[in-house]
Amino acid sequence: MIDLSVNFAGIKAPNPFWLASAPPTNSGYQIMKAFEAGWGGAVWKTLGVPVVNVSSRYGSVNYRNTRMMGFNNIELITDRPLADNLREIEEVKKYFPDHAVIASLMVESKKEWHQIIKDVENAGADGIELNFGCPHGMCERGMGSAVGQEPDVLKLIVEWVKEAAKIPVITKLSPNISHIVDPGLAAYQGGTDAISLINTIKSIVGIDLDSYAPYPIVDGKSTNGGYCGPAVKPIAMHMLKDLAQHPEISKVPISGIGGIETWRDVVEFILLGATSIQVCTAVMHYGFGIVREMETGLRQFMEEKGYTTIYDFAGKALPNVTEWKHLNLEHKVIAEINTDKCIGCDLCYIACDDGAHQAISIPNEADNRIPSIIEENCVGCNLCALVCPVEDCITMIKKDDGTKHSTWEERTLADDVPVTFDDDRAGGKGHYVPKPTDALK
Ligand SMILES: Cc1cc2nc3c(=O)[nH]c(=O)nc-3n(C[C@H](O)[C@H](O)[C@H](O)COP(=O)(O)O)c2cc1C
Ligand code: SF4
Ligand code: SF4
Repeated sequence: MIDLSVNFAGIKAPNPFWLASAPPTNSGYQIMKAFEAGWGGAVWKTLGVPVVNVSSRYGSVNYRNTRMMGFNNIELITDRPLADNLREIEEVKKYFPDHAVIASLMVESKKEWHQIIKDVENAGADGIELNFGCPHGMCERGMGSAVGQEPDVLKLIVEWVKEAAKIPVITKLSPNISHIVDPGLAAYQGGTDAISLINTIKSIVGIDLDSYAPYPIVDGKSTNGGYCGPAVKPIAMHMLKDLAQHPEISKVPISGIGGIETWRDVVEFILLGATSIQVCTAVMHYGFGIVREMETGLRQFMEEKGYTTIYDFAGKALPNVTEWKHLNLEHKVIAEINTDKCIGCDLCYIACDDGAHQAISIPNEADNRIPSIIEENCVGCNLCALVCPVEDCITMIKKDDGTKHSTWEERTLADDVPVTFDDDRAGGKGHYVPKPTDALK
């Protein structure tokens, strides 16, 4: 019997699907509608001293046929009065006592932090999320990512919060930093009960070619926005991995955020150590109903693998993410083309000849465009398989017999690595490379 319920640092929810602090959590109306649709938790749109927003606020990267592949906003925290938000938190908890309602907070002084914590606790919030991520507007006022980028300040504020908070505290990190472990460790050392990430990434999504102003345009000007949506998922997963593999930071649970849209995204974040996930852009794009596909898919995955709770597989991908120096240099794959599936589109040939290793040939016959692999030149880079438009037409076939294993680290320790510019121990030996003038033929 599958049980999707979670206990995230003491915050209980019927499932790990939570809404991220953003426009879908602006109001009690939206959160009640989301809970009805199947979401297990919601992080309220960040509360603080209410702001004035600009118009317009959103931009997007539409890639080919996909709208909002990347999404960008210059919106600030809530512009609604605190009293209205508190009243609605109380009301939502009355109707949904078993769902997680987390208050995202962003204020400046210690006194303000202590006051607003008391306010949201009195309203019945199950937890607090500290917004140290907003990369526009609020950071110019010394909040948001201005804190997320300064581990010492971040730690101090987490300590202030922990002095006052009776409910669990989640610290939400900014990805606008080169080494995510620094703020992650600062949050842990400050006493946070949990971490969530990522908030949005500083970005400019495009320039209008008449006014020369970036999108979204506010009376002829703009500013950097925060990037999110499917485009940021790989960055979010990498940062999640960095925290989940850290011996100290991993002692607290992590809520994964960034580009999550499908059940598969959810499973991948859990495999990298997240034990709740949060969604913003996908809900802004498709509505609350996407949670049904997430739940059905997650249940089916768990059933197939024999898991009963998400904790059975949380973090299971982490041992397989290692440093490059530990990868097996003796492992060898090469591309194989299924000629029955091939439609003769030339894409693999062009990609390999222009962008890889000249390991694909095409017969010089007008009625035959089926390519073949030049095995001795194929380095197994994968590019042809990635560009091929036919599913499973190009596959990578293992060529080593699995008996040998050596890594860069092992070879370095054995003093068996190239050290001169033409060292025989380097790779790339024996590959046929056409003469430069062959390019002109
Ligand atoms: C329009 C918009 C407003 C947002 N407002 C907030 C906010 O008030 N507080 C916050 O912590 N994060 C805010 N975020 C960031 C999201 O909570 C989330 O971290 C980010 O969008 C990545 O998730 P996604 O790829 O699912 O959108 C906002 C995002 C968007 C798009
Ligand atoms: S795997 Fe790389 S090198 Fe080998 S054929 Fe494909 S593109 Fe060329
Ligand atoms: S990309 Fe795929 S379908 Fe196109 S020629 Fe190559 S193998 Fe055939």
